[in-house]
Amino acid sequence: MHPTLLFLPLLASLLLLLFHDHASADCEPAACGNLTLRYPFWLGSSTNNPPSSSSCGHPGFEVWCSGDGRVASLKGTYIHVLSINYTASSLVASHARVAGDDGVCQTNFNVSSSIVLSLFNITPHNRALCFLYDCNNGTAPSGPEYVNTTSNCSTPIYAYLGGAYYWEKPPAPITTWRCEFAYMPVLGSEAAVMTAANYSRLLKDGFVLDWEVAGVGDCRACNASGGQCRYDSAAAEFWCHCPDGRRARPTCAAECSPSPGVNFTCHANAMN
Ligand SMILES: *[C@@H]1O[C@H](CO)[C@@H](O)[C@H](O)[C@H]1NC(C)=O
Ligand SMILES: *[C@@H]1O[C@H](CO)[C@@H](O)[C@H](O)[C@H]1NC(C)=O
Ligand SMILES: *[C@@H]1O[C@H](CO)[C@@H](O)[C@H](O)[C@H]1NC(C)=O
Ligand SMILES: *[C@@H]1O[C@H](CO)[C@@H](O)[C@H](O)[C@H]1NC(C)=O
Ligand SMILES: *[C@@H]1O[C@H](CO)[C@@H](O)[C@H](O)[C@H]1NC(C)=O
Ligand SMILES: *[C@@H]1O[C@H](CO)[C@@H](O)[C@H](O)[C@H]1NC(C)=O
Ligand SMILES: *[C@@H]1O[C@H](CO)[C@@H](O)[C@H](O)[C@H]1NC(C)=O
Ligand SMILES: *[C@@H]1O[C@H](CO)[C@@H](O)[C@H](O)[C@H]1NC(C)=O
Ligand SMILES: *[C@@H]1O[C@H](CO)[C@@H](O)[C@H](O)[C@H]1NC(C)=O
Repeated sequence: MHPTLLFLPLLASLLLLLFHDHASADCEPAACGNLTLRYPFWLGSSTNNPPSSSSCGHPGFEVWCSGDGRVASLKGTYIHVLSINYTASSLVASHARVAGDDGVCQTNFNVSSSIVLSLFNITPHNRALCFLYDCNNGTAPSGPEYVNTTSNCSTPIYAYLGGAYYWEKPPAPITTWRCEFAYMPVLGSEAAVMTAANYSRLLKDGFVLDWEVAGVGDCRACNASGGQCRYDSAAAEFWCHCPDGRRARPTCAAECSPSPGVNFTCHANAMN
């Protein structure tokens, strides 16, 4: 036998292994600093477009990581991811504009609808930290609920802590003082214990968002059935990559007649 022939079976199994494992190997959890990114999050980058690992997560959950791993942003936006709780389908994020040491001085805007109208909700576990500035004729708001948070800012700014944060139902701006008004979500648990001197710190610590499982698929159920979570951006649907190579939905436990090697999809209505 020719010596090279001995390597053929090895080569064949290597190739098989490569192709078989391709989809799963690509979707190993990725790290950014202390964060672990896995479905529906995935690690993209500004230079990798379209990114090869895009099917590892949902398009709305693309995270860009700074070279030193200190900043994980939602696709390079102002929204920085501080921590993720996969069990609760929630994350803590900060808004980069107010995450500096002088955050209080930078609060002349409302958190944009662009994140709110995506798959994320800013939950009512946050409280609304409200700011009044550019007050007409320089009149300062007065009353026990207002705190003068001007200290290091170049223009006067006053704060008061509102109730639960609802983006679509903003706290009533205090019209008495004819000031500009903005409201920021802050962690409710921290807001309860921090004083006005810590408001920049409070803004830096971010706020909690959750995401709708309905929009990204029930990854936990897929994973519990032995599968790995994937997202088909073209079809805009979640699918479950099963150990036997099946492309199932919603889980690998979905009943369907197996015909390996062909276009194989188990739909929700095929379950039980
Ligand atoms: C990572 O976690 C360690 C320990 O909890 C902490 O000291 C450090 O500041 C964290 N690093 C980042 C970039 O969050
Ligand atoms: C994540 O969320 C779950 C369920 O809400 C909770 O029990 C758990 O303590 C949270 N984990 C962390 C690290 O906050
Ligand atoms: C923020 O939203 C509130 C409520 O809709 C509005 O009254 C206020 O003018 C907005 N502030 C800015 C800076 O856009
Ligand atoms: C500004 O405040 C001063 C003193 O309180 C008052 O006399 C003046 O009428 C105010 N001007 C306007 C435009 O409100
Ligand atoms: C608010 O604080 C700033 C600086 O800390 C001070 O200059 C200003 O007079 C204060 N305003 C009022 C109404 O006390
Ligand atoms: C004012 O700025 C100084 C220097 O950046 C900082 O040390 C101090 O904590 C700030 N004061 C407040 C109340 O934020
Ligand atoms: C709040 O601010 C004060 C004064 O700057 C500081 O001593 C304290 O540690 C801060 N508390 C928290 C929880 O950050
Ligand atoms: C899915 O489950 C495997 C273990 O079966 C685990 O290693 C993996 O991290 C899980 N993936 C997700 C996205 O939960
Ligand atoms: C695979 O299934 C999808 C969705 O049902 C369908 O659009 C596509 O044409 C199928 N492809 C093949 C090769 O059968």
